[in-house]
Amino acid sequence: MRLILLGPPGAGKGTQADVIKKKYNVAHISTGDILRENVRSETRLGLQAKTYMDSGKLVPDDLIISMMKDRLQQPDCGNGFLLDGFPRTVSQADALEQMLGELETGVNAAVLLEVSDETVVERLSGRRICDSCGAIYHIRFRPSSVNGQCDKCGGSLYQRDDDKESVIRSRLAVYHEQTAPLIKYYEEKGLLRRVDAEKSSDSVVRLIAEIFG
Ligand code: AP5
Repeated sequence: MRLILLGPPGAGKGTQADVIKKKYNVAHISTGDILRENVRSETRLGLQAKTYMDSGKLVPDDLIISMMKDRLQQPDCGNGFLLDGFPRTVSQADALEQMLGELETGVNAAVLLEVSDETVVERLSGRRICDSCGAIYHIRFRPSSVNGQCDKCGGSLYQRDDDKESVIRSRLAVYHEQTAPLIKYYEEKGLLRRVDAEKSSDSVVRLIAEIFG
């Protein structure tokens, strides 16, 4: 399986990726997670990316494309991969096609998680993440059993800096302007699969499973 998860910020890409990667035993590649790790470790890439991420803008294509060229050649991608947050522009999609062409492969599908802007704001403003294992919670839709503590590993839950409402609105504007054109891009290639992601997480899991059997 070589899959792209498309959709606005907060559509549930990370939540669904966690289920899909276990079910199909594929590598989960989240460009957002890789970038945040680089910011934390203060690498050159992290220092370059931070200002863009803090304001909800996209990190420049050349940085992302070279990062993904390295990542897609790692051995864990041999069994398939799930791209979460990449591609995000038409240039990135063209670069992905070229990279995979050189590896004599391609993607099977681009799954679009469809949600309204208001749902995005509600989901992201209530999101909490474990600082130790990365598990994703929501104060209303998926609360942890003990307030502020991860059910899986006991780590502390935190709110991402870019999950403030003003930054969420600018991430949404960037999505509509720069990423939404990919819907037509993958539709024209016959690869687009639409999923109603307004439904509960479990229902979305089932809808995605129906696509792949
Ligand atoms: P990134 O980390 O990729 O963020 P994003 O795409 O904005 O997506 P999110 O992680 O915010 O949301 P998600 O769809 O994974 O939702 P989740 O499952 O957590 O990118 C961050 C930044 O990095 C970008 O702004 C940019 O600067 C940079 N970047 C990354 N990739 C880049 C690229 N390719 N090019 C350039 N720049 C790049 O769910 C959200 C919440 O909703 C959670 O609380 C969850 O519990 C809850 N939830 C999920 N599903 C449901 C449901 N069905 N019902 C109710 N609640 C739900």
